Amino acid sequence: MRINNYTFSNQGMMEEALVVVNFKNYSQSTLDNSRRMLDKFSKITVPQNVRLAFAISPVDLCLAGKFPDLNIFSQHADENDPGAATGKMTIEGLTGLGIKGSLLNHSENRVPEKKIAATIGKAGKSGFEIILCVGSPEEAEKYAPLRPSYIAYEPPELIGGDISVSTARPEIISDVVAICSGYSVPVLVGAGIKNCADLRKSIELGARGVLIASGIVKSEDPVASLTSLISS
Ligand code: G3P
Repeated sequence: MRINNYTFSNQGMMEEALVVVNFKNYSQSTLDNSRRMLDKFSKITVPQNVRLAFAISPVDLCLAGKFPDLNIFSQHADENDPGAATGKMTIEGLTGLGIKGSLLNHSENRVPEKKIAATIGKAGKSGFEIILCVGSPEEAEKYAPLRPSYIAYEPPELIGGDISVSTARPEIISDVVAICSGYSVPVLVGAGIKNCADLRKSIELGARGVLIASGIVKSEDPVASLTSLISS
């Protein structure tokens, strides 16, 4: 049941809307610009009913130590154990940096099914949050039984565009929410999200929150855009 704009009650527990800003590898949000952006975002007043997270580029993950009060996420994680695992992003390593969780299977970085299952299984044992991205209700159906922390529905064709998933695919959002609720997996939606109307509409459709990239990172004033997204 929705209590107010962005707050839900689940068996008496109050839950917040989750807003994940995906920094991708945009020049505006990597290297020094990533640090500057996180610094500015750390000064935003976040309403009580919103949880903000930032999925930063692999090249910047060390920044998590400089911003311990922010929820910093990775854009990918691997199930590999520490050791002979060249190029892999271990959950132990990410956790050691202060990273709270990770996107997985983003449409720009798809992962084979077996690895998805292994990574969600391993993350679950250590409380590392996995936001598993899917591009269709069929994929949601396939992966919801694995019980990731969230399933994020992002239609690939709308990513980076001006039409939001909440405007273009409302029925599919409801379908994905219905599928995932059977497994108690909260749903996020992303692609083309720009403003608080998109966030509100997503929540009305049953989502727990949104993923957003270009609407914040590439906007003229990222702080103003993010503040306005979460404020009303
Ligand atoms: O992970 C979020 C992302 O894929 C959405 O991108 O630019 O449409 O907000 P964008």
